[in-house]
Amino acid sequence: MNQKKVIDIVTKQNRWRREECLNLIASESLMSPLAESLYSSDFEGRYNEHIGPDCHYEGTELSYEIEEGCNQLFREHFKTPYVDVRPISGAVANIIVYNALTRPGDILVSLGIPNGAHISHTRWGPAGIRGLKNVDMSFDAEIMNINVERTVDIIKASNPKLVMFGASMFLFPEPIKEIREQIGPDIKFVYDAAHVMGLVYGGIFQDPFGEGVDIITSSTHKTFQGPQGGIIIGSPSLSKKDWKKVDQAVFPGTLSSTHIHRFPSLAITALEMNEYGEDHARQIVKNAKAFGKALYSRGFKALCPSLGFTESHQVIVDVKEHGGGQKVARLMAQCNIICNKMALPNDTSDDATHNPSGIRLGVQELTRWGMKEKEMDEVAELYKRAIIDGELIEKVKAEATAFKARYPDIHYCYPHP
Ligand SMILES: Cc1ncc(COP(=O)(O)O)c(C=O)c1O
Repeated sequence: MNQKKVIDIVTKQNRWRREECLNLIASESLMSPLAESLYSSDFEGRYNEHIGPDCHYEGTELSYEIEEGCNQLFREHFKTPYVDVRPISGAVANIIVYNALTRPGDILVSLGIPNGAHISHTRWGPAGIRGLKNVDMSFDAEIMNINVERTVDIIKASNPKLVMFGASMFLFPEPIKEIREQIGPDIKFVYDAAHVMGLVYGGIFQDPFGEGVDIITSSTHKTFQGPQGGIIIGSPSLSKKDWKKVDQAVFPGTLSSTHIHRFPSLAITALEMNEYGEDHARQIVKNAKAFGKALYSRGFKALCPSLGFTESHQVIVDVKEHGGGQKVARLMAQCNIICNKMALPNDTSDDATHNPSGIRLGVQELTRWGMKEKEMDEVAELYKRAIIDGELIEKVKAEATAFKARYPDIHYCYPHP
């Protein structure tokens, strides 16, 4: 490795993943040009450890102002006094909530990995490191959603400290209100909105606080297409005492550097979402539905056709008959169409680890490039030609690359030269 090589790697990455690829990784995003232009600044490398406004270091006035500005934007949007943008990622936001509200040995009820839970909701990830024991909810694979009655029974029988909603494979709003109606307020409900934050913020997916959630944790860089980072938002009805526990778990409990350089970009993204977010979110869901339909009509087993395939940015396709998720995702990547393999609820644990049956397709980035339903049909056709028709990889790759070149501009954001 030398200087030239480093520059070369970055140049190639920028050209390849941004200009030549169709990206369908459901957890990724693109910042707006203005947000991106503010990402690298003197804030990078600075520290601002603080408890409330009491900053430990000097020279932090502007760091505090930009962090508080971000908090304020989310406070206003979610109509709550409780926001903290310091967590440096979604998984770290979850760790902080576990540190704040649980003790080792406590029970956590979450969705279960085969049903789409994130690793941070399980004993194999941060919940396990905290010493929590996770118990899985009951999941109905037919409708790709939580079974309310059986899950209520599980919660009542296991008496957890926290119930963790939200998922990495996330097609439909979860029945939180129905579960909350049967579970009292002593058990805290946390909603991990990492994947659907842009849709929730846009007001079109579900209203977690309205349905009885106590705390939202999230990434700020999936359907909410800001800089990579995390956030914790407390419900307006959360007690001051509980929020203080969260605050203390942020600092001094968990974090020291808080990656301040991302806050200007986060603020711009929130402002842009206030202006364009609802339109953006609506188009993402329309595109995902159109994509599911286009794949299904070409012979792919896109899940949940009778439910319109999805209400989120994701489409899940069972590709077992085409060789499984790993094979299909790798083949498509050779065609410059990037997605990831996904375990499905009925996979054996061996299949789930080595070659899961599914692929997960997220349309948020294609939507950001200005693509609509018609373009989803064209992308589905490229999948068919590569996977079902077995066309030459080089041919599909050339077409995918030329197709992407037709969409050079990022949409749903402020103009920026
Ligand atoms: C549901 C869910 N929570 C948390 C995370 C972790 O987020 P981050 O990568 O920001 O730590 C992910 C990652 O994709 C996720 O899907």
